Amino acid sequence: MALLEVTGITKRFGGLCAVNDLSLSLDKGQILGLIGPNGAGKTTAFNMISGFYKPDEGDITFEGKIITGLRPDIVCKLGLTRTFQVVKPFPQLSVRDNVMVGAYNRTNNRRESRQKAEEIIEFLGMQDVADMTASSLSVAYRKRLEVAKALATDPKIILLDESMAGLRPIETDHMIDLVRQISKRGIALLLVEHVMRVIMSLAERIVVIHHGEKIAEGEPQEICQDKAVIDAYLGEVEIDVKG
Ligand SMILES: Nc1ncnc2c1ncn2[C@@H]1O[C@H](COP(=O)(O)OP(=O)(O)OP(=O)(O)O)[C@@H](O)[C@H]1O
Ligand SMILES: [Mg+2]
Repeated sequence: MALLEVTGITKRFGGLCAVNDLSLSLDKGQILGLIGPNGAGKTTAFNMISGFYKPDEGDITFEGKIITGLRPDIVCKLGLTRTFQVVKPFPQLSVRDNVMVGAYNRTNNRRESRQKAEEIIEFLGMQDVADMTASSLSVAYRKRLEVAKALATDPKIILLDESMAGLRPIETDHMIDLVRQISKRGIALLLVEHVMRVIMSLAERIVVIHHGEKIAEGEPQEICQDKAVIDAYLGEVEIDVKG
């Protein structure tokens, strides 16, 4: 049984069908890439899977339990969490306090949540900025804080929405390494990313969507050579599979 099974989810905004009949599945500890051009429906798919939008059609099953339409906080308690493409920290709180908010997903105890936050901050190499307010962080640290908040909820799956957008190459390399380490902890990852080097070096499988519909699915090497994918998307982006 897959950890996450998404079956035929559809989301319409008025006359626009942002996601149409999308299915995908993700096993424990697996990294699945979700790619496609701007406006393809990737974030909308994340919003449905994580409970922020209710699908108009289709079902989402997590660990064999149907979670379609459940609230995001309930989905998060079950072990599925996400980061936001447009980062959403509490801007006036410190990095440590932001991460503690995530840790309260599993405990009501302040000491325990602080301990969890310290562990995550160290894991992500954020000790030097732990006392800074979120609003004063650089883009790279803001992106990392999104990941820290997600990790602090103790998830089985994290949906990462463009965690590497706007990063410099060396910062991207660091984030790739962190994602690998998160995966080694047994956490499954669904990765939305436009930086192809990231997707090609991390994802075991890739789902490609275009105008809300799945146009291809397969291993990175197959996807690179898929004509429909090249026509719809990869023709526009730089492919560097060295990772
Ligand atoms: N809340 C909303 N109301 C109306 N239309 C929306 C809403 N959210 C998304 N859309 C539309 O749905 C389509 C899919 O948007 P979505 O943000 O899911 O794309 P995306 O693949 O994440 O794109 P990007 O790569 O630019 O982040 C777009 O046409 C977008 O304008
Ligand atoms: Mg998006």
